Amino acid sequence: MPTQIIDHPLIQHKLSLLRDATTPVRDFRSLSAELSMLMAFEAMRDLPLEDAEVRTPVATAKVRRLAGKKLALVAILRAGLIMVEGILDLVPSARVGHIGLYRDPETLAPVSYYGKLPSDIAERDTFLLDPMLATGGSAVAALDHLADAGAHNVRLLSILAAPEGVATVEAAHPDVPIVLAALDERLNEHGYIVPGLGDAGDRIYGTL
Ligand code: PRP
Ligand code: URA
Repeated sequence: MPTQIIDHPLIQHKLSLLRDATTPVRDFRSLSAELSMLMAFEAMRDLPLEDAEVRTPVATAKVRRLAGKKLALVAILRAGLIMVEGILDLVPSARVGHIGLYRDPETLAPVSYYGKLPSDIAERDTFLLDPMLATGGSAVAALDHLADAGAHNVRLLSILAAPEGVATVEAAHPDVPIVLAALDERLNEHGYIVPGLGDAGDRIYGTL
């Protein structure tokens, strides 16, 4: 699946503010949620529609509405939570799942500590949310978890990625489309995206 980079001017502008090390926690949080909503708006462009009719106060109108396909938003904790918050403004009845993972600081391997998904995840269009796709270890672990739970129509939304992370996800889950706001240059020796925006979870929650 080709990786999609959404270069809408509003997304790129908000991303420029997120990257800025002087952006305070409060702004970082609201910008992350807004940017996620804008990304989801684009990523949901191909959701199926069905024809219907409604009575307006004047006459009957032929309308098109979402074809009743159910959505699931799945956050990789912690940082994915802020993406859920922004995207729920667009699709308030989506169900929400949580996958708890953190990177071991030495090995950078993902460590799993929690998982709770909608029981009917197999019937839902699923958006896996994590702002940072670095080595790709966390995303692959979360996608494995979703596959084990029966999810088969999954997209990964990340604000920033390193080429290494994209390649890792593509190799492990070639059927999963990846949607990004930007693809950065590389990882540094600590597994951080360069130039990146730093540690997303710490910047969202002020735990630097
Ligand atoms: C960050 C980020 C991703 C992961 C990406 O989370 O939110 O989940 O790192 O790195 P990877 O692609 O190399 O796996 P972190 O492990 O720092 O946990 P946190 O969100 O709880 O701080
Ligand atoms: N996780 C982050 O939050 N930032 C990075 O640059 C890499 C992993």
